[in-house]
Amino acid sequence: MDLMEPVGSQPGERARDVADILRRQRIVELPTAPDAATALGDAALVALGAPSVHNTQPWHWRVCTDRLQLYADERWRLPMADPDGRLLMLSCGVGLHHARVALRAMGYLPAVRRFPDQNQPGLLATVTVDRPIPVTERARDLVRATASRQTDRRPVTDLALPGPAITAMRRAAGSEGAWLHLLNPEQTRKLLAAAEHAERAEFAESGYRRELAAWTDRPEGATAGIPGTVLPPRGDGYQANGSYTVLYGTGDRRGNWLRGGEALSAVWLDAIVHGLVVQPISSVIEVPAGRAALHLLLSGIGCPYLVLRIGVPETVAAVVSTPRRAARESIDTATSAATATDEASASGAEPEPR
Ligand SMILES: Cc1cc2nc3c(=O)[nH]c(=O)nc-3n(C[C@H](O)[C@H](O)[C@H](O)COP(=O)(O)O)c2cc1C
Repeated sequence: MDLMEPVGSQPGERARDVADILRRQRIVELPTAPDAATALGDAALVALGAPSVHNTQPWHWRVCTDRLQLYADERWRLPMADPDGRLLMLSCGVGLHHARVALRAMGYLPAVRRFPDQNQPGLLATVTVDRPIPVTERARDLVRATASRQTDRRPVTDLALPGPAITAMRRAAGSEGAWLHLLNPEQTRKLLAAAEHAERAEFAESGYRRELAAWTDRPEGATAGIPGTVLPPRGDGYQANGSYTVLYGTGDRRGNWLRGGEALSAVWLDAIVHGLVVQPISSVIEVPAGRAALHLLLSGIGCPYLVLRIGVPETVAAVVSTPRRAARESIDTATSAATATDEASASGAEPEPR
């Protein structure tokens, strides 16, 4: 389906229109970008639709004429649930992957340099355009998936995940340097026990309860956090159906978490392409005992990043969408030419494999 509405010609106007269109029509197709600079700006807009822990949207994008810069916005880190910034980095990684997907869907091969400037730890990545490339049907499928993707906490059918979908999701994780492990029933039982234990431990802390309350059950008109309408009643326990999986990688540092977020996006988008729904479960990652239990479930190999419940949906009806901050709050446009530091931060960016 093509875009039904014209896209503004002024940069600001175009940005606003693209954001509106993506949100309202839950895309659709990205408009053809007339040049790489416009594509970079549109890619940042697509990235704003990325999922994030508690919908904190802990990112900031700077759009320059020849590059995007992704910054962590520490104001939105969750001090109780996420003292180390693990979930913040995962969330930013998802946004980074969404931007990469969008660039490919607009016919540009991205080149990414992660942590380009050791003097700016908050600068997570620089994205440049390596060269124009043909737009593939796969690139279109993935960018459509960024628009239709939602966290789905509803019950799913008891159907097993189709083999081709599992293969595709595993390959997606692998392409971003991570792995997806499908838990067997015995491992799932252990995981759910660990998750419930982690939740109970967290809930015993008044600071944690306050933080959770501040980010959930948000009123209409809030631009961050989770609306009460999408959350199942507390105490309902975990859904029996669905396949529980663990996304994991080789290390447990900021750089690994950022890549883990890119893998999370890749797996999630492929799940959508295969008609599946996904709910991340982070409680068990938030407490050290939970991470240790997951590490054991992985037979001691790898560091767990996130648990994902993946399932065949009971209904094709969309869930209520979560809001996002206005683009102007999460994106700024650099008016000046790139500085010497910026130059250094983009040099050495490797184009991704075609
Ligand atoms: C790192 C990360 C951790 C998350 N943890 C949970 C979780 O524990 N439980 C849950 O229901 N959703 C979880 N989510 C989903 C977010 O709540 C969701 O992405 C956000 O509210 C935006 O909604 P959307 O995904 O429907 O766009 C997580 C998402 C991310 C990226």
